Amino acid sequence: MTPTAPVVLVTGASSGIGRAVAHRLAVTGANLVLVAREPEALEDTARECRTRGAVGVVVEALDVGDDAAVARAIGDTVEREGRLDAVVNVAGVVAYGALPDVPAEVFDTVVRTNLLGSANLARHALPVFREQGRGHLLLVGSVLGDVAVPGMTAYVVSKWGVRALARQLALENRDLAHVHVSCVSPGAVDTPIYDTAANYLGLPGRPPPPVTSPERVARTVLAVLARPRDRRQVGIANGVMRAGFTLAPAVYDRLVGPLFAVGGVDRTVATAPGPGRVLTAGAEGHTLRGAQPGAAAAMAHNVRALVRGRRRVRPVPTRG
Ligand SMILES: NC(=O)c1ccc[n+]([C@@H]2O[C@H](COP(=O)([O-])OP(=O)(O)OC[C@H]3O[C@@H](n4cnc5c(N)ncnc54)[C@H](OP(=O)(O)O)[C@@H]3O)[C@@H](O)[C@H]2O)c1
Repeated sequence: MTPTAPVVLVTGASSGIGRAVAHRLAVTGANLVLVAREPEALEDTARECRTRGAVGVVVEALDVGDDAAVARAIGDTVEREGRLDAVVNVAGVVAYGALPDVPAEVFDTVVRTNLLGSANLARHALPVFREQGRGHLLLVGSVLGDVAVPGMTAYVVSKWGVRALARQLALENRDLAHVHVSCVSPGAVDTPIYDTAANYLGLPGRPPPPVTSPERVARTVLAVLARPRDRRQVGIANGVMRAGFTLAPAVYDRLVGPLFAVGGVDRTVATAPGPGRVLTAGAEGHTLRGAQPGAAAAMAHNVRALVRGRRRVRPVPTRG
């Protein structure tokens, strides 16, 4: 990135990690383009960024899965600012449920948003970076882009795809020393994504411990923008999960289901099946942090619910 007023486009800027990234970039005096679907929530983030010191903030309400809209936003930015220094793609959605239970439209939208959205941004940002001879595409992946978990197939497939895409693009752009492609992969983060996820499990999802903050992920994103590297994990459990998945797959497969059933859902309440905010943005719930109870309390409630046999709802698919 250039030292003064870098022009940075941040997607998913209306809540959670993207909002935290926008805040942190604002403090550094960046010139921001904020992207998400819901315009009012984006305007809230824009106001916060101006207060924090952003030298400019433009809001672009669009769906990252819409290639033409992404092309327009990047083209307009380059025309207006004369350059584009970085794109941080944070936009993402989650769907819970075994594959046959998740409607095709929801499954496809998770993949379209998380994976094809990343490809759309890459398609239009990388030629600008290559023309400039410098620029940074940073994709936010997930530790679930390295491992498998039950009941999250659409998300896991999309995030394996994001990791593959980042790896592939880093390889293809090796010839230019100042053009970078990175993938930052958080573990569980306290954001609204669990409440706004599509859900066909019958149980609400929740961030499994250890849970980190969106601000912590944002710090890592800025560190990677400042000192580019291809891959970066965020979360103390990521290494354990990845090592278990790779080195001891039989043990991993046996443990992941029960652990997810206790730490990855709330077993004390039932939830009606529905697409959450996957298909449309909705006006509510664009906050920095989620509204879930602490992990220790939630797990204790889950264990109590399991022990008491209060399985009013269909259990999470945990074969093995
Ligand atoms: N929270 C976690 O535990 C965790 C862990 C690992 C990785 N991640 C990843 O981190 C990223 C951010 O997640 P978060 O936890 O911060 O969730 P979040 O608070 O729900 O934020 C998601 C953001 O993406 C935007 N968005 C969703 N669909 C979009 C679309 N089609 N086009 C444009 N923007 C869209 C949302 O705004 P609109 O609804 O207004 O469009 C929102 O700003 C995601 O890629 C997620 O997979 C999260």
